[in-house]
Amino acid sequence: MDNLVDQDTQSQSENTTEARDQNEATRKVFIKTYGCQMNVYDSDRMNDALSNDGYVKTETPDDADLVILNTCHIREKAAEKVYSELGRIRKLKEERAKDGKQMMVSVAGCVAQAEGAEISRRAPIVDLVVGPQSYHRLPELLTRASNGSKVVETEFDIQDKFKHLATPSKEAVRKRGVTAFVTVQEGCDKFCTFCVVPYTRGAEVSRKVEQIVMETERLAAAGVREVTLLGQNVNAWHGEGPDGREWGLGELLFRLAKIDGIERLRYTTSHPRDMEDSLIAAHRDLDILMPYLHLPVQSGSDAILKAMNRKHTRDDYFRLIDRIREARDDIALSGDFIVGFPGETDQDHKDTLDLIKRVTYGSAFSFKYSPRPGTPGATLEDQIDEQVKSERLAELQVLLSTQQKDFNASLIGKTIDVLFEKEGRREGQLAGRSPWLQPVHVNAPLDLYGEIGSVEIVAASANSLEGRLV
Ligand code: 5AD
Ligand code: SF4
Repeated sequence: MDNLVDQDTQSQSENTTEARDQNEATRKVFIKTYGCQMNVYDSDRMNDALSNDGYVKTETPDDADLVILNTCHIREKAAEKVYSELGRIRKLKEERAKDGKQMMVSVAGCVAQAEGAEISRRAPIVDLVVGPQSYHRLPELLTRASNGSKVVETEFDIQDKFKHLATPSKEAVRKRGVTAFVTVQEGCDKFCTFCVVPYTRGAEVSRKVEQIVMETERLAAAGVREVTLLGQNVNAWHGEGPDGREWGLGELLFRLAKIDGIERLRYTTSHPRDMEDSLIAAHRDLDILMPYLHLPVQSGSDAILKAMNRKHTRDDYFRLIDRIREARDDIALSGDFIVGFPGETDQDHKDTLDLIKRVTYGSAFSFKYSPRPGTPGATLEDQIDEQVKSERLAELQVLLSTQQKDFNASLIGKTIDVLFEKEGRREGQLAGRSPWLQPVHVNAPLDLYGEIGSVEIVAASANSLEGRLV
């Protein structure tokens, strides 16, 4: 019941102005989210748009009048996963039909964008295929699809979307907790040769400063304490500031830091080529910008970086890391790595291991290269054997998880700030996050929920910390 509209909801678009017919039966929507944080943000936006149209959220597809799969296309088998989920949903839809009830089915997200009409051809139960740039039009598209015609909407008009996205109610924000995402940038112009994002999310677009400030102010007023700015290339964000100058992400962070109630800022995901001086300065001068930076390098080999079209060398990356650490010495780095890109030799792989040893990561994500249809990497010769990819991934992950464990253990005995975000797993516990994003479990009274407490770390495991209130 996350999405009931309350009195605080201000009209920002035509989606929010309609008063709901009191007699209208409540309809239920189930949204399943795959993939990245931007999909999490987008699913919330879809819920907001639909709540203004009379839908309430349900946690299971069983009793849903509308099922939306918000899909991811970044790595292999994503589309296959969606089709097998659609197989399960087909049975539910048929059962509901026996009871004389309708179940609308929609595929959203990057698989929708990439496959378009092919989806409803392969899975005729799908009523609506909707790409990420059209979520603000969901209610209207659903009305069109409800009379039995198949609707496919994969147009690109990002600014239009941001202008018309429904505003969540204060109640909805509160239920989502004290941390929130705000998309500030979408799409990508970098065209790394392994990546589908420039095709599924389109060209790089930055949201306007006023929109971002307004959304963050609303979140803060509803009790949000920590905001993570999202973008496929978030540090490429730029826009005109109120002073008439062109701002980068650094200036934007300084502006958002002034908003009452916001106590922590984060951003993700960044590209090494867009780490401007003002952003590094923000890490030096802004206490509420958390000392954690996700800065994927993908490979430690110059030859592979070139083949990936990353447009920087390993030395450029080392120099950049030095500058960032000079500005903020307690910063923890996180990264993404791909093993087995076409042509990757044993030596290239060793170079990646060496880079990891030199940089030292607090956490990281690593993947086997997965050829994506339509990307240049997929047609390269010298595709690497699956077995070799698996071995290289295992080796890399041993190293990365050792670094992560060591980093967690290094905090034992230290007193750190923890933002309490939810009840813990055990009775009497609250769970929160450290400045470096580690989950921290603490025995603490419930009224500390939403507060930042001083916590002495007493134990560390591979994935979390345990502490006691100071
Ligand atoms: N194969 C494997 N990993 C990929 N990523 C993106 N595309 C691919 C691919 N084709 C990884 C990158 C990126 C992260 C979000 O997903 O490491 O940073
Ligand atoms: Fe994909 Fe990131 Fe490269 Fe853009 S910069 S193409 S989103 S990996």
